[in-house]
Amino acid sequence: MKTKIVLFLFFIITAYFNSLIASNFNHNFLSKLNNPIDSIEYKINILLKKMTLQEKVGQMNQYNGFWEVTGPAPKDGNAKSKYEHLKMGLVGSVLNVKGVENVRKIQEIVVKESRLGIPLLFGFDVIHGYKTLSPIPLAEAASWDLTAIQKSARIAAIEASAVGINWTFAPMVDISRDARWGRVMEGAGEDPYLGSKIAAARVKGFQGTDLSANNTIAATAKHFAGYGFAESGKDYNTVDIGTSTLYNIVFPPFQAAVQSDVKTVMNSFNVINGIPSTANKFLQRDILKDKWSFKGFVISDWGSGAEMIDHGFAKDLKQVAKISANAGSDMDMESYAYVTYLKELVETGKVSIKVIDDAVKRILRVKFELGLFDDPYKYCNSKREKELIYHPDHLAAALDIAKKSIVLLKNNQQLLPLQKTQKNIAVIGALANEKNSPLGSWRIGSDDNSAVSVIEGLKKYTSNFVYAKGTDVTVGPVSFIQELNINETDKSEFNEAIELAKKSDVVIMVLGEHGFQTGEGRSRTKIDLPGVQQQLLEEVYKVNQNIVLVLMNGRPLAVTWADEHIPAIVEAWQLGTQSGNAIAEVLFGDYNPAGKIPMTFPRSIGQVPIYYNHYNTGRPGPKPEVFWSHYSDESTKPLYPFGYGLSYTKFEYSNLQINNSNPSAIKVSLTVKNIGSFTGEEVTQLYIHDRVASVVRPVKELKGFLKYSLKPNESKLVEFVLTNKELGFYNNNGEFIVEPGEFDVMIGTNSENGLTGSFIKK
Ligand code: BGC
Repeated sequence: MKTKIVLFLFFIITAYFNSLIASNFNHNFLSKLNNPIDSIEYKINILLKKMTLQEKVGQMNQYNGFWEVTGPAPKDGNAKSKYEHLKMGLVGSVLNVKGVENVRKIQEIVVKESRLGIPLLFGFDVIHGYKTLSPIPLAEAASWDLTAIQKSARIAAIEASAVGINWTFAPMVDISRDARWGRVMEGAGEDPYLGSKIAAARVKGFQGTDLSANNTIAATAKHFAGYGFAESGKDYNTVDIGTSTLYNIVFPPFQAAVQSDVKTVMNSFNVINGIPSTANKFLQRDILKDKWSFKGFVISDWGSGAEMIDHGFAKDLKQVAKISANAGSDMDMESYAYVTYLKELVETGKVSIKVIDDAVKRILRVKFELGLFDDPYKYCNSKREKELIYHPDHLAAALDIAKKSIVLLKNNQQLLPLQKTQKNIAVIGALANEKNSPLGSWRIGSDDNSAVSVIEGLKKYTSNFVYAKGTDVTVGPVSFIQELNINETDKSEFNEAIELAKKSDVVIMVLGEHGFQTGEGRSRTKIDLPGVQQQLLEEVYKVNQNIVLVLMNGRPLAVTWADEHIPAIVEAWQLGTQSGNAIAEVLFGDYNPAGKIPMTFPRSIGQVPIYYNHYNTGRPGPKPEVFWSHYSDESTKPLYPFGYGLSYTKFEYSNLQINNSNPSAIKVSLTVKNIGSFTGEEVTQLYIHDRVASVVRPVKELKGFLKYSLKPNESKLVEFVLTNKELGFYNNNGEFIVEPGEFDVMIGTNSENGLTGSFIKK
């Protein structure tokens, strides 16, 4: 017994002195790294020399941390070792720890108790806001407003940094052409040109102009690469795409993010042409780090390393560690492969120390650039946390971009905007009363039910409406993690809605997808109105045709019946915190909608994938006989083309001029006039078509756009300059080439309508 007590005391005392030694060492050593005169590269090298192999590997390890910091342990089985690993310097970063108090506690363990005290990165999926939520990214892309998009990311960074987060796993810059894929909500749609501009705007918004400030955070361009091309739109599925698509469609937004100095890139779950991204040397080393000179680090996706065992690419975790590190995946998110095996792999010569040093330098660089060595607690200020969450400026900006994201899809007989004096309005649809669904699916930092519902938004304008739900969209609990159950049968509340519609002058129907019907793991084989909502719409239409359909959804929907019958359709996506306010302003004309869809809306699911920048094929048709590229039971045209969106006013396009005298700066201009009676914003879009090329070019490619506002009768000269950057393309060797020849040009209000001309490029 005595010996036990002595031993126990011995351990306690040793632990105490060890921690004192560590904290003194940290303090003295870290202060040497604060000298502002020394360059970051110099400091990285000093630090690297001090690090043991184990500590280096530790920097490459990221843990999920649903820590109950004040309580004993995380809920998962590795809780104890995770704590120990923090103290041993075996963790470079954690994700999902939020809140000033929690972040400080975890950071303190590392800074005070680990030998070198290298601060942690705190990563989080801040996708379209932290607490104050902007519209889902697909909706924001519909604004084509780069300033507003950048501001939205800026606000997300301000709120996230105020709760201790210094790194977001956004923006997702995956191009996708498949509305079945649930994650289309998280991207900027189908077009690489628009996608690149938005990628750059979002990176700038998150990272600001000074990454070392306490309100800017490191961004992540994800998922590298090809994740949006999952076969059949099924999440995590195989990706098999050709070189031309890879270079010309998938890569550009990533490259734009890198050019905007994005600090990290996340790889992806999928295999691409047979090789998982996480072990893909071509993607991570040859393209990203060598060709594009990316200086930041690559983070794996959640467990994407370990998933290579299921892919059939690695036999065990040890092999996972070897092939991922060698291929340039610098930090392992939740696979436990690096922390378990990387040291041994270096010691046995399977992974070179150069690989480790390169990865660690990249990770340390981001930490230095964030200023974490100067102050590891710089994001841990409870005063900022209190002041900045839901700050009125943030709510105002969220409202601004929510309005800008709304797309007017149809407006026959100018049913919209409604008069503020309009009497007898019926509001129908479960989504009209939703405060949760409009937040979308990627909102793990936000508060449930914090969106302004449509009903609440309308109340600010009128009390002349009566609400009837009509039907539920979902049945049972809704959550980020679980499969959603859709109401496919219960029509018991139809009658109440129909009776209400009968006695109303105008009916606002709010229908669509629940926020949790899109997002990760939420692919659909149907892209119509879920459940019995289509039936409800048709039943109400039988008694009152004066319907304004407000759609809420996270992907393009094939609302073909509605387009044929319903006079006014408003695309209102999931617009975030200010949802109902933005919709009400549009319905009552205080804001004139100007959004343009960033993804083609199909007529039916069978058309998917459908996208505007397709190739012509050898048989574009139409032809009288059947032998042309078409369907026998459906049009080849989309329901709404890419770039489409109406306004309460009308714009007239005239006087297209092309000047090709300088072959590397071809000037294209035209005049746009507001010929309607409302002030309105227009997004003028420029498309080109390279008629003959050494690699076949798409029928149209967006190469410029401009958003501006015109008063009634006001005109504007809109000018674009086409340089080699816009006129060239990547060949199948990945070389950017510019070929002389004949080009068609179209400038218009969407990808199908506009003035056309052509020019020869010498
Ligand atoms: C997603 C990533 C995300 C990560 C961390 C993964 O499931 O694919 O986009 O950043 O989880 O939450």
